[in-house]
Amino acid sequence: MTNNAVIQRTKQPDSSGSDSSWRRPVLVVAVCLGLLYVLVLAGIIGIYVQNVQSNEALESRIAALESYNVNQTIRNTVSQVAFTAALGNTGYIGPVGYDTNLVFDEVITNIGGAYNSKTGVFTAPVRGVYFFMFTGHSLSDTNMGVSLVRNGNIIICKTFTQSGVFPSRHETASNSVTQTLEVGDQVNNVLWANTMINKHPNRYTTFVGQLLFLL
Ligand SMILES: *[C@@H]1O[C@H](CO)[C@@H](O)[C@H](O)[C@H]1NC(C)=O
Repeated sequence: MTNNAVIQRTKQPDSSGSDSSWRRPVLVVAVCLGLLYVLVLAGIIGIYVQNVQSNEALESRIAALESYNVNQTIRNTVSQVAFTAALGNTGYIGPVGYDTNLVFDEVITNIGGAYNSKTGVFTAPVRGVYFFMFTGHSLSDTNMGVSLVRNGNIIICKTFTQSGVFPSRHETASNSVTQTLEVGDQVNNVLWANTMINKHPNRYTTFVGQLLFLL
């Protein structure tokens, strides 16, 4: 009995001492878990915010690329300008006492539709550098003079064959040029006064134009 009581008495403070010693680590672990939870939550929020920001950055870059793509498509479409037309059929134009606008009525190519085969006038659809070439076919008993003109009266360049070879023979003269044009600028061919040009099914006389590049 006495021994038991002693054991009990000595056990009592022991067991209460071990009680407080397991409460502290549990508290520490709980605090640590709490901190960990806060850190993980902060991390998740941080990642979320970063994702939203990088999504916005990506979206604006995609929008810029789409806009660039649309612009390039427009540029590619408007840069398709190329035509060739001939003075077809048979007979002659001229000579008359005044300059005559030449209408190359037989269209071989007219990509972009900037050449008008009813008026003989090419109208620049976009600002750019264009290449033009023109030839004139004639008989050597008559002068033939052709000017390439811009906006009705500005002469870009000319070509010419002089009469004086008898009996008459076929002759062809040509010229070509690169020319910067603004939107709406017009280019056509003018037969000089008192000269004559040959219309021919062989398309000896042609007018060629194409856009080299946009400005
Ligand atoms: C597309 O063209 C428009 C109009 O010319 C211009 O405002 C815009 O900056 C261009 N976009 C790009 C990405 O070049």
